[in-house]
Amino acid sequence: MPQTFTCGFALTYNRRVLSRFNVGISAMSNQGKMDCGRRRLIVATAAVGGSGVLAALVPFVSTLLPSERAKAAGAPVEVDISKLEAGQMITVEWRGKPVWVMRRTKEMLETLATLNSELADPDSAKAEQPPYCKGMERTIPNQDPAVLVMVGICTHLGCSPTAKFRAGTEESMPADWKGGFLCPCHGSTFDLSGRVFKNKPAPTNLPVPPYKYLSETRIIIGVDTEGA
Ligand code: FES
Repeated sequence: MPQTFTCGFALTYNRRVLSRFNVGISAMSNQGKMDCGRRRLIVATAAVGGSGVLAALVPFVSTLLPSERAKAAGAPVEVDISKLEAGQMITVEWRGKPVWVMRRTKEMLETLATLNSELADPDSAKAEQPPYCKGMERTIPNQDPAVLVMVGICTHLGCSPTAKFRAGTEESMPADWKGGFLCPCHGSTFDLSGRVFKNKPAPTNLPVPPYKYLSETRIIIGVDTEGA
């Protein structure tokens, strides 16, 4: 049975992954209040671009949690994206890894085509995504190209990159920065599709996991889209 995330742009996330990848820091301060028996929670974090406004974070207890055995075996994870607004990103756990689900703004999508000459693999020719997710958006054909699903682990040595969504105004980023991600470990930078910039330590783009749409507002991570 898949793990289900029912979030108003919140996310559920376990403590082990949080400590491993150093994400969800703001929510971790509340974690002591959120213990819920032996299946412990849960954290919410969101990164917001575009408007620059931080989203309100609401932790939710996930339901239908799979057994530890099922999780270890890589049970698929369902995610409700109905309340994921443009410019927001949530993180869920799949196979012990942080997976980002982001709804990009129109402006974010427009930057993608302008960056090709600066990227190491603009067409994602290397196999870091399912075959149905190639192209600059790296999304499933005939679905909303704004919704990006990506494993949040750097392809260099496995750090978790930091969201740097705001064009031109992000601390420690160049003035012509158009938004994306920075891996703080060795300085790899990625665009808003997770494509790595040239001459960076990361050898490939950030991976896209297998996923498919169950409806317009629900996706399942860990299950391939067939016939796309
Ligand atoms: S681990 Fe990301 S740049 Fe080294």
